[in-house]
Amino acid sequence: MLRPILATLLALSSGTLLAQTAPTPTATPWWKGAVLYEIYPRSFQDSNGDGVGDLNGITSRLDYLQKLGIDGIWIAPAYPSPQVDFGYDISDYEAIDPQYGTMADFEKLVAAAKQRHIRVLMDMVLNHTSDKDPWFVQSKSSRTDPKRDWYVWRDPKGYDKDGKPIPPNNWQSVFGHSAWEWDAGTKQFYYHRFYVQQPDLNWRNPAVEKAMFDVLRFWLDKGVAGFRLDAIPSLFEDPAMRNEPEKGGTNAYGDPNLNTIYTDNLPEVHGVIARMRKVVAAYPDDRVLIGETYLPNVEELDKWYGGAAKNELQLPMDMLLGFGSGYAGHGKLDATFFRNTINAAETKLQGSEPLFVFSNHDNPRDWDRYSDGVHDLQIAKILATMLLTTRDTALLYYGEELGMKTHTPTRVEDVQDPIGKLGWPKEKGRDGERTPMQWTADAQAGFSTNAHTWLPVAADHTTLNVVSEEQDPNSLLRWYQQLTHLRDSNPAFAPDAKINVLMNTAADVLAYTRAGADGKLVLVAINMSDAPQTLDTSAYVGTGALHTLAASNAPQNNSVKSKQVTLPPFSVWVAEQGQ
Ligand code: GLC
Repeated sequence: MLRPILATLLALSSGTLLAQTAPTPTATPWWKGAVLYEIYPRSFQDSNGDGVGDLNGITSRLDYLQKLGIDGIWIAPAYPSPQVDFGYDISDYEAIDPQYGTMADFEKLVAAAKQRHIRVLMDMVLNHTSDKDPWFVQSKSSRTDPKRDWYVWRDPKGYDKDGKPIPPNNWQSVFGHSAWEWDAGTKQFYYHRFYVQQPDLNWRNPAVEKAMFDVLRFWLDKGVAGFRLDAIPSLFEDPAMRNEPEKGGTNAYGDPNLNTIYTDNLPEVHGVIARMRKVVAAYPDDRVLIGETYLPNVEELDKWYGGAAKNELQLPMDMLLGFGSGYAGHGKLDATFFRNTINAAETKLQGSEPLFVFSNHDNPRDWDRYSDGVHDLQIAKILATMLLTTRDTALLYYGEELGMKTHTPTRVEDVQDPIGKLGWPKEKGRDGERTPMQWTADAQAGFSTNAHTWLPVAADHTTLNVVSEEQDPNSLLRWYQQLTHLRDSNPAFAPDAKINVLMNTAADVLAYTRAGADGKLVLVAINMSDAPQTLDTSAYVGTGALHTLAASNAPQNNSVKSKQVTLPPFSVWVAEQGQ
């Protein structure tokens, strides 16, 4: 406390603002071991009855989040936007979209969250802007405009026999078809990795970096605890504009599958991130940088921390654990896969903090990806356990704690997400994982008073909702609450408590121990099969008694002396060494 006060006094006495030295980061910063919660603002809580969620809605639900044990919320973009990509096309980086509220509402939300020890993190889209952003409007206005080079403009490769311009190369948009859009006015193409309405910024131009770092400072000054950096591996493209190699076959849009080596994860991005880290490090209270980092392996992930230097992102998302066994397809509840992946994060990240995640607004919900139609609730409890009892920062997606399901539209005319319209029926879009939060059994699930919400409230809200799960001791919500409570109260789940993944268990058993500062071991044992499995615990936790801390469906007895423990099908057992 002393330092800021002193700095202020000195600044006042000299009449100028002194250059501040960077605050020292705390040994255990708040985000280490935190439980973060992604809120899709359109879908969380509507406070003004227009059928779309908003910031005041989020504020009104903070008590729920506090009870759930949430330390920080990441709000998907709520800035002014034409909403082509539902906010990921930003047209003003330093304001709030009126459909979500006002800047005063935002400030109220940050303050109210702080009272409940919840931090607010912003989504930050640095790769591209909306085509309605004044920067792009200017850039497009003429080839000689000072903002021209803020975006990626290229001449056509030539013209076809009908006089149509040919794009510079074969690069494709993630959302289908060529990544190059022709501008008839200035007779050049611009590059867009995502929708046509999302032109990519040119990060090779230092003015772009400076402008975007100023945007970060704007929000840091408002007290945000950090940023989730959208699509961050896409910041740079190959300056030689080489064609990407084809992988064979076609995607949902009928385009050839490409190996995106010239548009994804280029090494230049790491320089930007290291400089960005310095921007946030100049602020007190351990502001954090989180990355949307879909990467092929843990070695690549480590680079995003800055490797041994640890001078880049504090928390690049580890998508390998929660999505590695299948993104859109069916994830496999495979103990060997989880054992190896958790162990790799523990042993190959040079002690950096893993950020695990199983669901988000871009992929079918984990419930649907892992369920078998018979043991769905048990399986969801297993996923929650991996998220909340390993050594990690945990990121959960709104509604995941209830077991909300993916409700994909069945008719193309109902689709909101443009990729679902373009790719129908092979790609049905992301509406399914974005349906309104299910608070109550009432009409519109307590989400809105409007009979027409931006996406329909799922019919199963009459039975699957916060109120009913609060009342059911065996519900998924209660399981999440129990585990976050354990995480906060038991030293074995403290951020620095070691994890030891047990590598020689039965194939279908995932087990690990955590060791707290008090020396007591806690064993987490998960049976991922539909048959009982036996675990000999003596090799790991000795032959003394083990006391149950949490059990999803057994062993129900409080204290187990036998060293041979039988785990029922699809069960979780968390037990602590005792007398
Ligand atoms: C990220 C977002 C996704 C968005 C895309 C383009 O992947 O999570 O929702 O469509 O970036 O901004």
